[in-house]
Amino acid sequence: MEKQILIFDTTLRDGEQAPGFSMNLDEKLRLALQLEKLCVDVIEAGFPIASEGDFLAVREIAGRVQNCKIAGLCRTKKLDIDRAWEALKNAQHPRIHTFIATSDIHLKHKLRMSREQVLAAAVEAVRYAKSLTDDVEFSAEDAVRSDPDYLCRVVEVVIDAGATVVNIPDTVGYAIPAEFGRLIRTISQRVPNIEKTILSVHCHNDLGMAVANSISAIENGARQVECTINGIGERAGNAALEEIVMTLHTRRNHFCLATGIKTQEIYSTSKLLTRLTGMQVQRNKAIVGANAFAHEAGIHQHGVMNNAMTYEIMTPESVGVPQSMLVLGKHSGRHALEKRYKELGYSLSEAELNAVYEAFTHLADKKKAIYDADLIAILQDREDEVPETYSFEKMHVISGSQLTPTATIRLKHGDEMVEDSSVGDGPVDAVFNAIDRIAGVQGRLLSYSLNSISRGRDALGEVLLQIERDGASYVGKAASTDVVEASAKAYLKAVNRAINNGKIGDGNQSRSVL
Ligand code: KIV
Ligand code: ZN
Repeated sequence: MEKQILIFDTTLRDGEQAPGFSMNLDEKLRLALQLEKLCVDVIEAGFPIASEGDFLAVREIAGRVQNCKIAGLCRTKKLDIDRAWEALKNAQHPRIHTFIATSDIHLKHKLRMSREQVLAAAVEAVRYAKSLTDDVEFSAEDAVRSDPDYLCRVVEVVIDAGATVVNIPDTVGYAIPAEFGRLIRTISQRVPNIEKTILSVHCHNDLGMAVANSISAIENGARQVECTINGIGERAGNAALEEIVMTLHTRRNHFCLATGIKTQEIYSTSKLLTRLTGMQVQRNKAIVGANAFAHEAGIHQHGVMNNAMTYEIMTPESVGVPQSMLVLGKHSGRHALEKRYKELGYSLSEAELNAVYEAFTHLADKKKAIYDADLIAILQDREDEVPETYSFEKMHVISGSQLTPTATIRLKHGDEMVEDSSVGDGPVDAVFNAIDRIAGVQGRLLSYSLNSISRGRDALGEVLLQIERDGASYVGKAASTDVVEASAKAYLKAVNRAINNGKIGDGNQSRSVL
C-alpha cells in the first residue's frame, strides 16, 4: 500500500497575497469549491487578521467547503489566533495555522526578540490554539536559514504543546534540493517526539527550485507539502501543486507514494485561476502551459502518432487537458453539441444548451471548424458573465500604418444607446479610450494577453486583461475571431466589474446618447 502525501493548497493565502493575484470573495469561493473538486487535503483560505476581506473569505469558505480541512493563518499573537478561529469555527474540519520566524536574521531585524522569547511565544500560541481546536499547524518561518539545533528544539516543544502538523518553510527560496532534504532528515531523526506530528514543507521559488526542494523533502520524510496552483505566490511564487502531484503520479514506481488528488481536475483548476486573476501561465509551463502537450517537431509528431509514449510521459487526459480535436461545424445540430459537451464532462440544462447553441451558431458562421477548446471558451464566457451596466453593441475601427487609429464604440446603457469615439496609439488603445469616454472611467491597464484558443488562422483570439482602479483590480476576458473586438469586450467586462463594485463613476458628460 502506497503511503499518502497530503496536499496543502495555499493558493488563496500565499498565492493571493502576491501582487496581481487578488480575488474578491465570490472569486475565492469559486476557486475553493474547485479545489475541493480537485480533492486537495487542506485549503488555506486566507489570513483572517490581515483584512476584513480575508476574514470574510475564510468564514465563507469554511461554511461552504465540506470535504477539505480549512486552514486560517495567524501570527502567534492571541488576537490573531482569536480572529482566525472566529473565521474558521464553522468549518467541518478547521485548522489553525500559527507561525513565527526562527532565523536569527528575522529575530534580530524583524521581531526584535530573543530565541527564548520566540520559543515561548510559539509554545503559548500552539497551546492556546489547541484549546480552541484539535488540528493546529505550526510554521517556523525562514526555517531554512535558522540554526538547525535551535530549529529542532522549536519543533520539539511545539509538538509537546500539541501541534498536529509542523511546517518547515523555505520562506526566501534559498535552499537547494540535497541540502533541504538533509534538513528534513535531520529533523525527522533528531526530534524525539517527531512521530506525534505530520512533518510539512513549504518552498518558495526564488531560485527556481521550489518543486525540486519539495520532492527532496518528501523523499526524506515530509508527509505534507504546501503548494499553489500554477505556482503562484510571493515574489517568484510557491511550489506548483500540479508539478508536485504529477511528479509523484508519473514516477510512482520510483516514489511508491500517492496523493488524493483527482488529477483530471488539474487543468480546469489552473484555467479557473487564470480566468479569475487575469494572469496567464507561460506557454512552456510544465503540466498546464499551452505547449505542455504540443509536439511541433515533425519527428516528435510522427513518434507520438505511432505511440504516444515515445515523447509523452503522461497523457493530456490524465490532467484534464481537452483534446484539440476537430469536433463540430456549421451544420452540426443541437444534439451533436449536447453530446460533445457531455463527453467533455459538462451536462447542460435546456436553457444553458439553448444559450450555448446560439453562441455556437454565431461562431460557426465565422469559423469553419469548431474545436473542444472553442466549446469550453463559449461555456466559460457564460460563467464569467458580469452584470452589464454597459453592454457591447458594435464598434467601428479605422487603423493603418499611415493613419491615426480611431475607434467608435456603441454601448447599451439601460434603454439608451450611447456612442463615442476616440483615437489611440493603436486600434486596441483607441477602443479602450472610447469605452473610457462613455463609461466615464480610466482604468489603468495592469496586464493584457492575447492567445489563440484553437488552431488555424480563423481561430478565436482570447484576450485576458486586468485593470486597476482606486487600488482594486478587475479582470476581463473575452474571445472573438476579431482580436480588437475581443479586446473591447474584455475591457468592457473589467469596467463593468469595477462599476458593480461601486469603485468608479457610471458615465460622463462627453458621450452622445443616441
Ligand atoms: O513562506 C512562509 O514562510 C510562509 C509561512 C507563513 C508558512 O508563508
Ligand atoms: Zn510562503
